[in-house]
Amino acid sequence: MSERLIEALGRLEYRGYDSSGVATIFEGELHRRRAEGKLGNLKTRLKEAPLSGTVGIAHTRWATHGAPTECNAHPHFTDGVAVVHNGIIENFSKLKDALAEVGAKFQTDTDTEVIAHLLTKFRRDGMGCLEAMHAMLKCVEGAFALAILFEDDPATIMVARNGPPLVIGHGDGEMFLGSDAIALAPFTNDITYLNDGDWAVVGKTSVQVFDIEGNVVTRPRHISLATADLVGKGNHPHFMEKEIYEQPEVIARALGHYINVNDSHVTTTSTDIDFAGVESLAISACGTAYLAGLIGKYWFERYARLIVEIDVASEFRYREIPLSPRSAALFISQSGETADTLASLRYCKAHGLRIGAVVNTRESTMAREADAIFPILAGPEIGVASTKAFTCQLAVLAALAIGAGKARGTITDDEEQVLVQSLATLPGVMRQVLNDITPEIELLSRELSHYRDVLYLGRGTSFPLAMEGALKLKEVSYIHAEGYAAGELKHGPIALIDENMPVIVIAPHDRFFDKTVSNMQEVAARGGRIILITDETGASMSKLPTMHTIVLPDVAEIIAPMIFSLPLQLLAYHTAVVMGADVDQPRNLAKSVTVE
Ligand code: G6P
Repeated sequence: MSERLIEALGRLEYRGYDSSGVATIFEGELHRRRAEGKLGNLKTRLKEAPLSGTVGIAHTRWATHGAPTECNAHPHFTDGVAVVHNGIIENFSKLKDALAEVGAKFQTDTDTEVIAHLLTKFRRDGMGCLEAMHAMLKCVEGAFALAILFEDDPATIMVARNGPPLVIGHGDGEMFLGSDAIALAPFTNDITYLNDGDWAVVGKTSVQVFDIEGNVVTRPRHISLATADLVGKGNHPHFMEKEIYEQPEVIARALGHYINVNDSHVTTTSTDIDFAGVESLAISACGTAYLAGLIGKYWFERYARLIVEIDVASEFRYREIPLSPRSAALFISQSGETADTLASLRYCKAHGLRIGAVVNTRESTMAREADAIFPILAGPEIGVASTKAFTCQLAVLAALAIGAGKARGTITDDEEQVLVQSLATLPGVMRQVLNDITPEIELLSRELSHYRDVLYLGRGTSFPLAMEGALKLKEVSYIHAEGYAAGELKHGPIALIDENMPVIVIAPHDRFFDKTVSNMQEVAARGGRIILITDETGASMSKLPTMHTIVLPDVAEIIAPMIFSLPLQLLAYHTAVVMGADVDQPRNLAKSVTVE
C-alpha cells in the first residue's frame, strides 16, 4: 500500500516540494511516517518502519506556512483524524484562535492543522464523519484540495476541492485520488474531475460527490490521456537539458497543428474565438508563460493591429480592469492549473469575454473552462524551469497572431505566406543552433559562474526575452539577474555597471540593432563586460570588444525570439551545473503553483 502511494508521489515530484509524508489506517488505527527533504528520506523511513493497511493518503509539501520540517509535513493528525492539504486556508489564524480557546493543542505552524482540529471538534460535538466534513467546509476559506482519513470510518477517504485540482480514479475493486491524472496513470485512466466546491466520500468501489450545499451531484467520468510511462531523461543528466534539446521536435509538432507548410497558411484550429471581430485582447499568465505572453503582445499588435492588455495574473485578477465583452482573452499556462491565471480566466469569463487557453495539459482546469483550447503540444515538461514549453508557447502565439492578422485583414496573403514559411524553418534552425553553440556556452558558463549579478538587455521582442534569460539564470543557478529594456539602461541600471557585472545583450540584427549597439557603447564606456548574443550580420557590424560574442544564424524577425531563447537556456543550465545546483528542482520553486 505505502509503496503505491510513494510511487504516485514520485510521479508528482516534478512539481517541487520540500517534505513528504504518508498515513494509513491499520487495525483501526492511524499511523504515519514523515520526512524532511526529498522523497528518498521518506522511503528510508518506511524501510526502517513499514506501514501496513489498504487505505491511505500521502503528500509532498511545498512550505507556505511554517518551515519545511518533519513536524510541519503532512499528514496532520489530531485525535482520530488525518489530513493532507494542497492550498492555503486564508482564515486559519482566526480559526486557530477560536479552536485554541476551546482546548485544541496545535503541534505545527501550518494553516492546514486547523482542518484536523475542526473535524475533531465537530466529531466530539457528536457529528458523524459526513456531517463534520460538511461543517468544516463551511468554516474554511481559501484554496484547498483535501484528503482526510477518519479512524472510526476506516474504509473511506473524504475529499474536497476548492481551487487546486483533485481527481478521483476508478480502479477494479479499488479507488484512487490524486492531484492530477499523471499520478494515477499506472493504476487507472478512468477519471472523475471534481469541480470547485465539490466534496466527496470515496469508498473501496464507489464515490459519492456533494456540492457545497451538501446536495448529491453527478460528475462525469473521462478516459484520461495521461500516460503511465514515467518520462525518462534519456541520455541527459537532467530533464532541463533533455527538454532544451527536445525543442526542435516538439516545436515541429506544435507548428504542425497551427500551420500548413504546403500552402503556407495558418490553419484555423478553433472557431470559438473570432479574432476578426474582437475589439481587443487581454493576456494574463505567470512566470515564464507571462514572458511568452509579452512577446505575443508585440506580435498581436504588429500583425493583427489588436490592442493587447497584458499583466501578470496575480495583478491582473485584482486590478479591476474595465473589460469589454467584445474582447477576447488568452491565458497562457504550461500546467493549466496556476491559481492566479485560473482566477484571471474566471474574472474575464464573468465579464463575458471569449476565453482561449494556451496550455500544455489538455485535461487541465483552464482547458476545461475555456471556450477555445490552443494546445502547445510540448509533451510533459518535468524540469521546474520552463524551456520547451516557453518556445512552444511562442510558436503557438506567433501562429495565432498571424492567423488573427489574416482574419482582420491587417496582413496580406503574401505576408502571411512569408511569415508562415519563416515559422516552418524553426525546427531545422533550432537543431543547427543547438549543435553549434553548446561547446562555447559550456566554456562561457564556467566564467559566468564566478559572478554574483548579471544584467540582460534587449529591445522589441528581445526585451521580454532578456527578462526570460534573467529569470532562467536566477531560477537554476541562484545568480542574481535582471532583464531590462535596453532603452531603460540610462534610467537606473547603468549605475550598477562595473567590471563585476556582466551585461548580456540580446541583439539580433533587426530594426532596433543600431539603438541597442548604442546602449552597448554606454556599457563598454563604463568598464562593463558585454556578452553579445547576435546573428551573423549583427556580429559583422558590431565592432565593440566583448567578453564573448555568440553568433547565431541570420533568421526572420518572427522566429528570432525562439532561436535566441536557446543560448539563454543553455547558459542558465550549464552555469547551474557548474555551480552544482539542483537543476531540475531548484530550491523553493514549484512547477505548478496552485496557491496565490
Ligand atoms: C512556476 C514555474 C514556472 C512557470 C510558472 C507558471 O513559477 O516554476 O516555470 O512559468 O509557474 O506556470 P504555468 O504552469 O501557469 O505555465
